[in-house]
Amino acid sequence: MVSKYSAGLDDNDNSPTSSCSRRKPSAVNEIVLLTGSTGNLGCYILASLLSKDHVRRVYTFNRKSTDRNIMERHKDQFEDKELNVALLSSPKLVLLEGDITLPGLGLSEKVINKLQQELTAIIHNAWYSNFSLPLSSFEYHIKGTRALIDLARSSERRNAIRFLFTSSITMTQNWDESQGPYPETLVMDAMTAVGGGYGESKYVAERILAKSGLEVISLRIGQICGGEPNGAWKPSEWFPICVKACWYLGAIFEPSHESNWMTMNSISDIVLEIVFHKDPLPFAANLTHPRPVSSAFVLHAVRDALIQELGHGLSPESLRQVSVKDWIDMLERSAIMHHAEPRNISVSRRDYGITSPSFYSFNFQRLLSRVISKLPSFVTLDISNAIKLSERMKTLEPIDAKLVWKWVKFWIASGDLSQSGFCEDRSRAHL
Ligand SMILES: NC(=O)c1ccc[n+]([C@@H]2O[C@H](COP(=O)([O-])OP(=O)(O)OC[C@H]3O[C@@H](n4cnc5c(N)ncnc54)[C@H](OP(=O)(O)O)[C@@H]3O)[C@@H](O)[C@H]2O)c1
Repeated sequence: MVSKYSAGLDDNDNSPTSSCSRRKPSAVNEIVLLTGSTGNLGCYILASLLSKDHVRRVYTFNRKSTDRNIMERHKDQFEDKELNVALLSSPKLVLLEGDITLPGLGLSEKVINKLQQELTAIIHNAWYSNFSLPLSSFEYHIKGTRALIDLARSSERRNAIRFLFTSSITMTQNWDESQGPYPETLVMDAMTAVGGGYGESKYVAERILAKSGLEVISLRIGQICGGEPNGAWKPSEWFPICVKACWYLGAIFEPSHESNWMTMNSISDIVLEIVFHKDPLPFAANLTHPRPVSSAFVLHAVRDALIQELGHGLSPESLRQVSVKDWIDMLERSAIMHHAEPRNISVSRRDYGITSPSFYSFNFQRLLSRVISKLPSFVTLDISNAIKLSERMKTLEPIDAKLVWKWVKFWIASGDLSQSGFCEDRSRAHL
């Protein structure tokens, strides 16, 4: 797939610009194309871009939706996260919809010409976050990445455009740690990314971007969690579902690894610092929290928040601690028990491969078990570039109990956790 989608890139006279910048970030004239602005991280990045004086225009590019118009989709996300909805009325904002795999991204020639004349930066953030599909299912995104490269290469300011890609640490999953932490450079050994189509697709995209001749930076981002101001974290993602399962099972698990998660708002701040950085950009920067906390601390904070917010009259010990293995066993027993009695939760198309119609279906529980048992196996990453490029990254505060509390309150307010569910499974299944 790397060679298929990098065909023709070697013919250009520019070699990858991993160490030399050909642009001088302008003080008041940035014009940015952002993909995936209807998503969780995307809407934070959009809000930040719109609030910067030196950003003159923001083009967002998203796929079309049949049910909600593009402004409503952005408003929903901004309201959900308590971002400033008034920013969406900014005259700087141009909302584009199309199909990234069509010629000219499915946009009119006039719009494409304008992008070619104006763009100073591309932030490519749209991707299907699904951990259970093979690489072939992500070909759409690889093709789309190549289309954006072609757009940038055909632009008048081709030598001045910065291309920031939101990659993922899942592409590092097969790294041999005896070689030290995963570096902030392009890794040429494709085997290091093998282990799941999602991570593999990010790796393939990086390899193509490295041949683009553009000034590219790939940010390998770790787990993104809910952030400021209200802790919003989509209830159908894997960790919120774990919390819900803890409440239903009456037990929290005791993980031994660390959580190097970063909030949506901090990642968004870092993305902006990096894309507008005055110095030449390296090819890659790894974004995991420089001051991780123990996952046990996070789970205890979750338990305290659940008891305080929902468990009137219960003591913290009512949510007993069990090993990860015992917790997974409980989960699987509950899946067997509920197999004939599915409980529906709404699951959207972009949720971590969780496509089962039933929260309690066996396959779904298996998937969750796999995610949880794999947690400790994430590799250590070098984060020196990220710290050098971003003051925010350098000074990031560790995740604290106040933030965890905000997540729990958000899930309760969104109707996903309720008092009545406590220990429901344990009492029914004698777990
Ligand atoms: N969340 C994490 O923990 C994490 C960790 C590492 C890296 N990342 C990366 O960070 C970026 C943002 O993640 P996120 O959590 O904000 O994801 P998200 O909330 O699922 O948003 C994804 C965005 O991509 C768009 N998208 C998804 N599938 C698409 C498709 N087939 N065609 C066109 N657009 C599509 C979505 O559009 P719709 O609104 O139309 O669905 C949405 O705008 C992604 O590149 C992701 O891989 C995320």
